[in-house]
Amino acid sequence: MTNPSSGAAGAAPNPNKALWEKGDFTQIAGSMREAGDALVATLGIEPGMDVLDLGCGDGTTALPAAQRGARVLGVDIASNLVAAGNNRAAQAGLTNLVFQEGDASNLEALDDASFDLVVSMFGAMFAPRPFDVAREMVRVTRPGGRIVMGNWIPGDPTLVAQILKISAAYTPPPPAGFVSPVTWGVVETVLERFGAAGIPPDAITCTPTLYNFRVPGPPAALLDSFRLYYGPTMNAFDAAASTGRADSLYAELLALFEAQNQGGPAETVIAAKFLKVTVLKPRNWQ
Ligand SMILES: C[S@@+](CC[C@H](N)C(=O)[O-])C[C@H]1O[C@@H](n2cnc3c(N)ncnc32)[C@H](O)[C@@H]1O
Repeated sequence: MTNPSSGAAGAAPNPNKALWEKGDFTQIAGSMREAGDALVATLGIEPGMDVLDLGCGDGTTALPAAQRGARVLGVDIASNLVAAGNNRAAQAGLTNLVFQEGDASNLEALDDASFDLVVSMFGAMFAPRPFDVAREMVRVTRPGGRIVMGNWIPGDPTLVAQILKISAAYTPPPPAGFVSPVTWGVVETVLERFGAAGIPPDAITCTPTLYNFRVPGPPAALLDSFRLYYGPTMNAFDAAASTGRADSLYAELLALFEAQNQGGPAETVIAAKFLKVTVLKPRNWQ
């Protein structure tokens, strides 16, 4: 796998990689394990299947996929999350699960048609150059295989779309040409990107679906994990602090987390809506 490291001599820093290595997504992933298992249970994973988990983090979906007997490769741009994933695989005794560094926008080290299933839960949506991402996911999928993406939906009133929206309001405007990750949550855009990769619209299904975050403790505990470890929210707090608005950002987010909590003061449970995109790569693919 090409190493997209920002540290190579003379290489331009990769802001996408820096964003995710700035935080520690493992600290948030703990609240997503149950939902990750539930999602994987819907994917029809069987022993012997080859599965790619793209933007896999520390393996919230990769690990349960491997526990079902698939050969699983987790690819993520953040080296800290790749290391955390490999540690989790070793601790679980899973020799059929490997994590390696890579960029969803360019999977050049992966062969054409090498996976039965490519899954990307809230991962590939954050990669730059979304048309390249769609083309790469289609390329590495076997004819007759599937791609399943989970994408946050712009303007949706539930948790993560609102965190990203509130955070963006406190962050300086992105550079020219930046494409918002949540555009992957718009059905027409999804059809356009996979259409450009050769997938007909009738091979794509988009279904709004719920994903539960669950943590022991009050909503402020879940908010703190985003504030301290989630790159986009960390950047928003840095920017807000520089203009004296960190308290206002915190208050806005806390109101959001408290309003969305369906648990109680001792356990926070928040359901966030995402667009589940399923793509069937035609069997007669040329
Ligand atoms: C919100 S986290 C989701 C992680 C994991 N899929 C899960 O469900 O827990 C987003 C992940 O996408 C990864 N990511 C962001 N840009 C990427 C890119 N260009 N290529 C591969 N992974 C990327 C981040 O490093 C991070 O692990």
